[in-house]
Amino acid sequence: MDTPRWNRRQFVAATSLGSLAAVGGAAVSARAAASSAAGKLAIRGGTPVRTASFPGWPIWDKERDEELVLSVLRSGVWSRAKVVAEFEKKYAELIGAKRCLATTSGTAALLTALNALDIGVGDEVLVGPYTFCASIQVILLSGALPIMVDTDRETFLVNPEKMEAKITPNTKAILPVHIYGLPADMDRINAIAKKHKLVVVEDACQAWLAEYRGKKCGTLGNLGCFSFQNSKHLTCGEGGAVLGDDDEVMDRAFAYHNFGRGGGLLGTKFRTTEFQAAILLAQMQRLEEQTQRRWDNAQYLTTKLRAIPGVLPQRLYDGVTRAAYHLYPFRIDEQVFQGVTRNKFMGALRAEGIPCSGGYGRLNEAAFIENTLSSRNFKRMYSAEQLDYCRSQLECPDNNRLVDEAICFSQRVLLGTRADMDDIANAIGKIYENRSQLV
Ligand SMILES: Cc1ncc(COP(=O)(O)O)c(C=O)c1O
Repeated sequence: MDTPRWNRRQFVAATSLGSLAAVGGAAVSARAAASSAAGKLAIRGGTPVRTASFPGWPIWDKERDEELVLSVLRSGVWSRAKVVAEFEKKYAELIGAKRCLATTSGTAALLTALNALDIGVGDEVLVGPYTFCASIQVILLSGALPIMVDTDRETFLVNPEKMEAKITPNTKAILPVHIYGLPADMDRINAIAKKHKLVVVEDACQAWLAEYRGKKCGTLGNLGCFSFQNSKHLTCGEGGAVLGDDDEVMDRAFAYHNFGRGGGLLGTKFRTTEFQAAILLAQMQRLEEQTQRRWDNAQYLTTKLRAIPGVLPQRLYDGVTRAAYHLYPFRIDEQVFQGVTRNKFMGALRAEGIPCSGGYGRLNEAAFIENTLSSRNFKRMYSAEQLDYCRSQLECPDNNRLVDEAICFSQRVLLGTRADMDDIANAIGKIYENRSQLV
């Protein structure tokens, strides 16, 4: 993945030829060449690099999605039955797990997984703060304490270097999140788990078909959890799944999601419907091609962005054989950009016709954490010392910096063409060349 950075002379030579598309040997896109030559930034009244839109999401068609949904409608069997079972079988095969349990959401999948592994009151769960709030909420909802492990700013993922120091006699599990579909450093996380006899629940809610050493995310720990919410690469509006190889644990998961029936457990209802499964079966037919397209485009874009001074695309861990890129994240070095802030950069990029966003907030400082720790329930479950210990671990300086630095492209942007990627790189190159207009 690593490509040598271009020095400034090479960079200027490439751009002065008319387009950054020359970097990496790609064909020059005429529209990009024309626009990158125009020096005035669009935010200052210049011509934008791009006016065309990127692909929309979700994608469906009459033959597959509509037909499968209608056949469920016509059958009159709408709650969990054979279509859900068919989806579970096919998704388990696709990911490479023995079993799959479909649930109503990714959050429900994570809660089911923690419950099936008997994680609850008195347990500490190691988790990183650069994620969606549900990754932390499920730990608290289970009655356990989330212990924050700071983020590695280069990879956007939980920093395994900082993990072992957080282990106490109460630590029961690690919940690595493959955020943005970028696989976490699972060799090191699994080694730590093995050494300290911890279970690993992967939050693969954004990592459909992402791979680490050729194995799919969601099969790298004890259980893997997925989300099928509307923005997700495999979607049915709202849905989720737990995957695992251990029959006993998966039987507990099944019982939990179905009122505890068959397991003699306390459970709840997280059963999905035949409609959701029908849409997932249709969507699954496109998943491999779309995943590969995002991966190819992301690698191409990374090569091009690395050639621009001060642009820092995310680094993938050595074991990553494919990332899913639910978002494509990068940072800029504000010094190289002569003081242009992240927000000013994003404003300029949007004006050039490239949609982007700023990523996650400081989840380690989210109000729901303190409000839960100081709730009546938690005060009954834990001593003041235990709660204070949890609070004391919330400080994550690297994460706080990353939150201010991250810039992201959505997955649908990566479903575009090579010329679309050229437009993105050209827009960023144009901003770099004309950065003095922003300060
Ligand atoms: C990393 C992560 N974990 C958990 C979830 C929860 O999934 P859901 O929204 O399906 O409940 C999401 C959803 O966005 C997510 O991105």
